[in-house]
Amino acid sequence: KKGPPCKFVIFGGGGDLTTRLLMPAIYNLAQAQLLDEEFSVIAVDWSESSTEILRQKFTATMQDFVERRGKNAVALEQSTWDWLMERVTFLQGSFTESSTYDKLSLLLGESNCIFYLAVAARFFSVIVDQLGNAALTVEKPDCYRRVIIEKPFGADYASAVTLNTELSKTLSEKQIYRIDHYLGKETVQNILALRFSNGMFEPLWNRQNIDHIQITAAETVGVEKRGSFYEVTGALRDMVPNHIMQLLTMIAMEAPTSFEADAVRDEKTKVLAAIAPPTAADIVRGQYTAGAIEGVAVDGYRSEGSVAAKSQTETYVAMKLQIDNWRWAGVPFYIRTGKRLAHRKTEISIHFKQAPFALFRDTPVEKLTPNIMVLHIQPKEGVTIQFSAKVPGPMVRLGGVRMNFDYSDWFTVGPSTGYETLLYDCMVGDATLFQRADNIEAGWEIVQPALNAWKDHEDPLCFYPAGTEGPYEAEELLSKTGRHWLKL
Ligand code: BG6
Repeated sequence: KKGPPCKFVIFGGGGDLTTRLLMPAIYNLAQAQLLDEEFSVIAVDWSESSTEILRQKFTATMQDFVERRGKNAVALEQSTWDWLMERVTFLQGSFTESSTYDKLSLLLGESNCIFYLAVAARFFSVIVDQLGNAALTVEKPDCYRRVIIEKPFGADYASAVTLNTELSKTLSEKQIYRIDHYLGKETVQNILALRFSNGMFEPLWNRQNIDHIQITAAETVGVEKRGSFYEVTGALRDMVPNHIMQLLTMIAMEAPTSFEADAVRDEKTKVLAAIAPPTAADIVRGQYTAGAIEGVAVDGYRSEGSVAAKSQTETYVAMKLQIDNWRWAGVPFYIRTGKRLAHRKTEISIHFKQAPFALFRDTPVEKLTPNIMVLHIQPKEGVTIQFSAKVPGPMVRLGGVRMNFDYSDWFTVGPSTGYETLLYDCMVGDATLFQRADNIEAGWEIVQPALNAWKDHEDPLCFYPAGTEGPYEAEELLSKTGRHWLKL
């Protein structure tokens, strides 16, 4: 169904996020006939440019985007692209000056508007204040005004609360759409579909049947050109209170009463509130040293650009979390994320308890193949279930086998940036896949004690060579209880 007419105003409209992700996503929406005839884009940026220059820049990047799809390439549909480019206008202006907002006001009139803040986090409050001063955030019965922002939502618990308080001076919570790009991934959304549209998994989804759960977000890239950002951020802030907590809540939450935004977000908040902050013994922080990724030698973190020679910033973090509620008491959730690991892999594995008793003489219960269900999020997309089967032959012997569901075997996976669903949902006012203020704050509360301890360098930093499974200490976090990480 087509979205309503809407003016899509992008602050930072000439920047990287806009060209690389937002414009391709908007094009995909246009291609899918989801945009109204009256849809338009207003790109606001401080740098000197023009509508014509910007359209050329978007076109060049879009062609690049299409070509990069390799064998899945689908040619750019020129008529759709032209349709979209006709609707793009550039507006030059500083984000901090009221004159920019006066000019904007003339362009907006009484239309539905989404303000997308594709800018550094320090501008979030400034822009929202200015929008408020110019009365651009005032909604009318037939005219909505929404603001999209993307992480970082603060750098710790206190700054997250401050940011939420500042935003709420101008906007109601319903007008704020906080993006976590993990929620735009099809495979992440599929977690809820898998759990709540099938009868066979949910009865097993609890402490009676599950031994533990692992959540992995491993990357092979280093910090790329983001050394100065990463030095003050680190793996914990960058990935855990946001992306990893989203994965964890989707796996652990109770069934919501509906898929209305607040029903889903209420359940997520309850899970986060039941997690006690982990103690130092349950956390491993690591940093990569020189090594090799797929046979190519790479530098250690401390030799990356804009990184201190004795940097204490973690590029890897693993931790054990407990959810103190009736469903999950006693089931550890092990999470790990890091840069420069052996493989790029985001997945969640559910490790079921062993059969209570083995009937098979030659296979004692501890040797049975563990029953593991893996939800593959990226780059592989699908679900695998591992179990035991009889090896053919006269002897009764057991072997481990896997049942595999691969998305691409069943569905046509269209080219996507991951932003399409999110932008469309914001247009139609569905906030289910966006984070509410209390979700954000609850995520930070869990990691805050670790951030405090690390500031004073109380916890040791463990090193791992680039291209490996991560620090040895992370393996120990599990092996001391007889468990093991799945291999990357
Ligand atoms: C971002 C982090 O939010 O997520 C990056 O800032 C990280 O450091 C990225 O690389 C990972 O996203 P994805 O979609 O590649 O898993």
